[in-house]
Amino acid sequence: MELHASHGYLFTQFLSSGINDREDEYGGPLENRARFLLEVIAAIRKTVGRDFHLGVKVNAIDFNDALFPWKEPGNTLDESIKVCKWIEEAGADHLHVSIGSIFPHPLLPSGGFPADELNWWYGIMGSSGVGSYRNYALFHFKVLRPIFLWLWNRTKKHHSIEGIVVPYARAVKQAVGIPVICTGGFQNPDLIRKVLTNGSCDAVSIGRPLVANNDLPRIIEEGREIAQPCTFCNRCLVNAVYNPLGCYDVTRFDYDQTSMINEVMRVFDPSRKPYIYGDSPRVLRGKTYSVKTLDTTFTDLVRESPVDLAQLRFRKRLLIAAIVLIAATVTVWLRR
Ligand SMILES: Cc1cc2nc3c(=O)[nH]c(=O)nc-3n(C[C@H](O)[C@H](O)[C@H](O)COP(=O)(O)O)c2cc1C
Ligand code: SF4
Repeated sequence: MELHASHGYLFTQFLSSGINDREDEYGGPLENRARFLLEVIAAIRKTVGRDFHLGVKVNAIDFNDALFPWKEPGNTLDESIKVCKWIEEAGADHLHVSIGSIFPHPLLPSGGFPADELNWWYGIMGSSGVGSYRNYALFHFKVLRPIFLWLWNRTKKHHSIEGIVVPYARAVKQAVGIPVICTGGFQNPDLIRKVLTNGSCDAVSIGRPLVANNDLPRIIEEGREIAQPCTFCNRCLVNAVYNPLGCYDVTRFDYDQTSMINEVMRVFDPSRKPYIYGDSPRVLRGKTYSVKTLDTTFTDLVRESPVDLAQLRFRKRLLIAAIVLIAATVTVWLRR
C-alpha cells in the first residue's frame, strides 16, 4: 500500500507551506504541517502491524510557484528531506519521490501540454472545482491559450523531460535508509540503468511509457529497440478523464486517427491484433508549438477537435453574414 502524499492532494495540502494556511497544531512550522501524515502512518501501522508493506509517495520540492509566479514556492528540498526522515521513523517501508504541488503540474508529468484536449477536460469538469471554469475559458477561447501556455511552460527550460525527479530522489536517498523509488519520464534503458546503479534511487516507477508500450519491460529485457516510444505528450493523461486509458498521440500511429482509436479500444478486446506502425492515411490537422527544456526541445501538436472545427465554421459563417449584411446596407444607403 502506498499513501499518496504528493501532487497537491490532501496530504500535500497539509504538508506544503505554499498551501497550508491553518493556524492550529496542523499549520505553521514543518512539524505541525507533517503531523497529519505522520498520524495517519502511525494509525495504519497500529492497525496492520509491522508485517505489512506501507510506502509513501512524497514531494521532494513543491514548485508551488511554477504556474503562477506570485504564489509561495512551498516546501524546499531540505524541508522535504526532514519530512522523509520522519516518515521513515514513523514506520514507512519505502519512499516514492515526486515533485509538484498540483496535478497536473508544469513539471510533472513532464513533457507536453495538449491545449486542445484540455478544452474538453475542463469542459467536463466546468461545474466542479474552484478554477475549472476559468481554465475552461482559457482553453476554449483560442486567443487566450497563449497566456496559459506561457505561464505553464515558462519553467520547463530549467528541467529535463526524462528523469526529471532524479536529482531530488538522489538527495532523499542519501538522507534515508529505506528504499527510494523515483518517478518521472523513465523509458530509456540507459537512463534507468544509470540511476539504479549510481545510487540515485533503488527503483523507478513508470507510467506513460507503459501506456505507450505495455510490454516495455520485456522490450528492455530483450535488448530490443523501442520502435514507437512514448513522446511524453500527456494526451493519455487528459483523455483519461473521459476516454478509455490508452495512447492518444496520433503521431505514434503514423497520423492515422482510426488506427489510434482501434488500438485504444483494444483494451476491451485484448485478443485483437495490436497496431503495427506502417503506412496509413494521414488525417492530421492543426499547428505545432515548441517548448525548450534542459535536454531537448519538446514539439507539441495542437489539433482542432471536431467541436472546435464546427465552432470555427460557425464563426466564419457568422462573420461572412455580417459582412454581407453591412455591404447590402451600405449599397442600399448609397443608392438612395
Ligand atoms: C493516465 C495517467 C493518469 C494519472 N493520474 C494521476 C492522478 O490522478 N494523480 C496523480 O497524482 N498522478 C497521476 N499520474 C501521474 C503518475 O503517477 C506519474 O507520477 C507521472 O505520470 C510521471 O511518471 P511517468 O513519466 O512514468 O508517466 C497519472 C499518469 C498517467 C499517465
Ligand atoms: S498519449 Fe501516448 S505518447 Fe503521449 S504521453 Fe501518453 S502514452 Fe505517451
